[in-house]
Amino acid sequence: MSVAQQVFLRDAMRRLNLTRDVFSARIGVKRRALDTWLLPEGSQEFRSMPDVVGRFVTEIMDNDLLLRKYAQSTQSGPLRDRIAVDGKHQLLSVDQFSRESVEELFRIADLMQPIARRRKVSRVLEGAVLGNLFFEASTRTRVSFGAAFCRLGGSVCDTTGFTFSSMAKGESIYDTSRVMSGYVDAMVVRHPDRGSVAEFARATNIPVVNGGDGPGEHPSQALLDLYTILTEFSRLGKLLDGAHIAMVGDLKYGRTVHSLIKLLALYRGLKFTLVAPRGLEMPNDILEQVGRNGGHVIEQAGSLEEGLSGGVDVIYATRVQKERFAAEELEGYTLDFQVNKAIIDKCCGPDVVIMHPLPRDSRPGANDLSVDLNHDSRLAIFRQTDNGIPVRMAIFAVLLGVEGLVQHSLRDVTWNPPSHVGPDDSVFHGLD
Ligand code: ASP
Ligand code: CP
Repeated sequence: MSVAQQVFLRDAMRRLNLTRDVFSARIGVKRRALDTWLLPEGSQEFRSMPDVVGRFVTEIMDNDLLLRKYAQSTQSGPLRDRIAVDGKHQLLSVDQFSRESVEELFRIADLMQPIARRRKVSRVLEGAVLGNLFFEASTRTRVSFGAAFCRLGGSVCDTTGFTFSSMAKGESIYDTSRVMSGYVDAMVVRHPDRGSVAEFARATNIPVVNGGDGPGEHPSQALLDLYTILTEFSRLGKLLDGAHIAMVGDLKYGRTVHSLIKLLALYRGLKFTLVAPRGLEMPNDILEQVGRNGGHVIEQAGSLEEGLSGGVDVIYATRVQKERFAAEELEGYTLDFQVNKAIIDKCCGPDVVIMHPLPRDSRPGANDLSVDLNHDSRLAIFRQTDNGIPVRMAIFAVLLGVEGLVQHSLRDVTWNPPSHVGPDDSVFHGLD
């Protein structure tokens, strides 16, 4: 087996959407045996999985893939056509996805993992150029979209801020978008106004990706967040259907939570607990949309302790989007809203997954996600940022129609990456 047995088994459980109990029953082994195969190799309890089990699991996955391919062929055409907007290959909102199409995208992201983990290289986008147009601050979205494009063999041109683009001279979105279309093969755009990225998209026939449109949406962030939740749950032996998700912080202006809650609503029977200071609650139109799907329960809690006391599976903390409103409105954001070690230890179990889209505001008085959780393996924030690469590679591969070429394009890397990219990464966090 070319990948570690733990990685192989976790991926298998996630792809088959099975808990540890159901998976062990499906492959006919005791749950205890499965647990020992999933332990780190250094552990006293670790056992090697017999080859025959590996072959059996591969066979189950192959059959499952065939069934899915058959199901897809009975739908209409490639993924990029099924998620298209007005016939154009763009990613503007999570509303473009169904549960099936999002899971199809994640299978493509899985294919990208050896590239993202720096074991393999691919050149399927050789010759293609990405235009990164960021009119608001960004580290993750701009750099990870750029890196994802480069890791598929393409190259990137960037422009950041209004000052250094001709929008500072009064150029319109239409003209900017049309001009860029003559230079590049895809665009990622971040802009402070809701709906502005859709305006860029209307003015071009090349793929456009919404990298955040003011307080509107941040669809690629929500996709990588959902991918992270599914990956973490597979490690923990949980399913997303029926899970309890707490969203904390600025739910009014936070575009990541607007996209994420709609995407999560594609699953069944979730409980959402929303914890926001007065005045920063989740907008009603989004709550109504979520309420129309899948038998979900939505509760609003007045304090973090009240919100977390019901035993949540995921805590998704967010930064107060200070850039979107006047300073006096900030007063409600007290220390009581801070996700920190004390509140997590008091209200949550060992299996909770703590997430944040980042950046977290580490300045004194910001009361954002505390750094005192940095050495707590329940904190998934850097596993989350790492997942930005395979998910964004998958988005490009789909929008540019090369996802079918990736598997056969893979070559070994020529350099030696570190086994763990971060000095504090826990065992399951590293590169495989
Ligand atoms: N980086 C995310 C966004 O641009 C979240 C944040 O800035 O708080 O929406
Ligand atoms: N999560 C996110 O969008 O980060 P940036 O604002 O740094 O791009």
